[in-house]
Amino acid sequence: MKKVLVINGPNINLLGLREPEIYGSKTYKELLIFIDKAAEEAEIDVHCFQSNSEAAIIDEVQNAYCIYDGIIINPAAYTHTSIAIADAIKAVGIPAVEVHLSDLSKREAYRQISYVREVCCATISGKGFEGYSEAINVLKNVKK
Ligand code: DQA
Repeated sequence: MKKVLVINGPNINLLGLREPEIYGSKTYKELLIFIDKAAEEAEIDVHCFQSNSEAAIIDEVQNAYCIYDGIIINPAAYTHTSIAIADAIKAVGIPAVEVHLSDLSKREAYRQISYVREVCCATISGKGFEGYSEAINVLKNVKK
């Protein structure tokens, strides 16, 4: 069974509370339940990680080397700032999918840059929780 690591960045733990008009009213706990169910249906072994720290996210990506077959990452605000997270994904060479709950293309100019986009095999934006299940299915079918 393929092993997939799901990484969520800063403030994703506050889902439900934070800007519900943008991110919806469901909580991070509900997201975890949703991801577990989607992974079970796709017959994927999934592990979820969330951190508000850029360094911890980089460590998690590095530690995935030779352990995980795919990474799903919502780097949250680090999407727009972190060359270091993009470098880590590139370094480990694990197929990765970038996910955003909101549709970045319809948001502020400073959210139009994504440093991780070019190191990911797909980007899914604006589909809410469904983005994570789509990403699971992208990685299920990806050939390394
Ligand atoms: C986000 C979009 C980012 O711009 C923002 O900083 C987030 C969440 C999303 O999932 O839509 O924290 O990655």
